Amino acid sequence: MTAFDLDAFVDRVKQASRSDSPARNVRKLIDEAFVDPDRLERDLPHFDEDDVILFEDDKVSIWHCRFQPDLHVPPHDHQTPAIIGLYAGTERNSFYEVEGEKLVLKGAKELKPGDVLAIGSEGIHSVKAVGGTPCCGIHVYLSALTVIERSLFDWESGEAMPFSDANYDKMKRVG
Ligand SMILES: [Fe+2]
Repeated sequence: MTAFDLDAFVDRVKQASRSDSPARNVRKLIDEAFVDPDRLERDLPHFDEDDVILFEDDKVSIWHCRFQPDLHVPPHDHQTPAIIGLYAGTERNSFYEVEGEKLVLKGAKELKPGDVLAIGSEGIHSVKAVGGTPCCGIHVYLSALTVIERSLFDWESGEAMPFSDANYDKMKRVG
């Protein structure tokens, strides 16, 4: 088994984001890469930061994300398709819809190493590492995520608010 080459992977994802079917072709690349999560864990560099932007332009954002087990990332949307591959730990994604003045839990999926999850543009999810250890993955968004004016949602009322650092800190659950 050859080593996982992160730069080459980022380049292929970048090319796929410019293809006729970006969601399908990016998904294919992530599916292929995450067939062997141990290889990713072995060959990816150690990132000091939990969130690292590996690449971003107007077509695609590629992140390495690590979630610590004491953090529950509050409900949010992306307003662009997201494809998430997990290679370490267990990541629980909870999915919601706003119904009237309530945020209603509609389902959940626990990702294990090797699992890939696609979330549509309108999807609202919260994220938590479960099992007492951090979880690590690569997240690809089919747009420039840092410039999208996306939303956080109140845990109870479902009220949408701008995805700002201040609102994130207010809404995140710790412990
Ligand atoms: Fe997300």
